[in-house]
Amino acid sequence: MTLLEVKGISKYFGGVRALKDLSFDVIQGEFLGLIGPNGAGKTTLFNIICGEYKPNHGYIKFKGENIISLQPYDICKKGISRTYQLVKPFLNLTVFQNALVGALFGRDKSDSRKAVEFAEEALKLVGLQDKRDVLVKHLSTLDRKKVELARAVATNPILLLLDEPVAGLNPKETEEVLTIINEIHKNDVTIFMIEHDMKTIMSYSNRIIVLHNGEKIAEGTPREVASNNQVIEAYLGAPSC
Ligand SMILES: Nc1ncnc2c1ncn2[C@@H]1O[C@H](COP(=O)(O)OP(=O)(O)OP(=O)(O)O)[C@@H](O)[C@H]1O
Ligand SMILES: [Mg+2]
Repeated sequence: MTLLEVKGISKYFGGVRALKDLSFDVIQGEFLGLIGPNGAGKTTLFNIICGEYKPNHGYIKFKGENIISLQPYDICKKGISRTYQLVKPFLNLTVFQNALVGALFGRDKSDSRKAVEFAEEALKLVGLQDKRDVLVKHLSTLDRKKVELARAVATNPILLLLDEPVAGLNPKETEEVLTIINEIHKNDVTIFMIEHDMKTIMSYSNRIIVLHNGEKIAEGTPREVASNNQVIEAYLGAPSC
């Protein structure tokens, strides 16, 4: 079943074309990868899906409803959550308070007791219960990334957008965060993840979309994408004659 339908999206920043006539679907339950060279438009796409930027053309439907004119907080309430390429936790709040903010602004939170439960569960999932009362400004990069994951998960998302969640981490930390992401996926959350490391994206994704200069140049299984000539050219440059 199609969860998210992206149709004909174009985005310009002045004279810069960040996305051009981009269309694809996200299927419920999948682990979808998004790759592309620097400046390909990956983060811009996430900002449009979450309502932070409005496109110049096109629409996005989530569970059949056009969400293009909604504000980011309304899109979050509908079940789309995200993490940022450069993490943006609330530094002067505690770990628990960060997760609670997610829970209070998320989906189906009618009472604050339920929100506390969601926040506690999210901390458990990322393994930060022991640091629940620590101010986030005192945490390492790894723990800040976990806090951001917890805040996103505490919104009880249907679709979770992850923008390079393991960038800047060492191999052991990377494995730790990927295990958490895998756990989130197992809990019936559809994942749409941007990642530069080919080995990681190939082994975790069911399907991959490739952007280059704001356009989709390939879409398919990891194996299909890895053997696509346009993709190889985009990453390695055109072969010289
Ligand atoms: N707020 C903005 N104002 C002006 N230009 C922008 C803005 N956001 C993105 N761009 C431009 O849009 C293009 C796509 O940027 P984007 O950040 O989406 O790329 P990306 O694929 O996420 O790259 P990276 O892999 O480096 O994170 C770039 O040329 C970038 O400079
Ligand atoms: Mg980016």
